[in-house]
Amino acid sequence: MTPPATDVDWDALRALAREAMTHAYAPYSGYAVGVAALVDDGRTVSGCNVENASYGIGLCAECGLVSELQRTGGGRLTHFTCVDGNGEILVPCGRCRQLLYEFGGPGLLLETPAGILPLSEMLPQAFGPQHLTK
Ligand code: THU
Repeated sequence: MTPPATDVDWDALRALAREAMTHAYAPYSGYAVGVAALVDDGRTVSGCNVENASYGIGLCAECGLVSELQRTGGGRLTHFTCVDGNGEILVPCGRCRQLLYEFGGPGLLLETPAGILPLSEMLPQAFGPQHLTK
């Protein structure tokens, strides 16, 4: 069961995202990003953006997060936060909402500038794994 938003230490999760952000490699955009999430078994995972001289193939912080999720045993994301280079709460980009949907589904709770919201509100009518099995 996903713990409700109020039972989660969002400050601690945001601190982990801020720490991850300090490892960003963003020489092209100059825009560092850090993310962190809780997993349904109590683990935490995090990530930072890693850019590339071929600008379009840079990796968002969420790419690192889902990679760490899978590498450390899989599971489902339950709570997620994202911060910018100033440590301020940031919304995940559109593509990364899709990544989060794959591993957290519509009930994943996101910390956003507008409060704690389920992914179903950040990515309505999502295309997902369920469509491929129809
Ligand atoms: N970025 C992320 O890492 N995650 C997001 O959700 C938003 C954007 C990165 C990509 C790029 O390295 C930089 O922010 C500027 O777009």
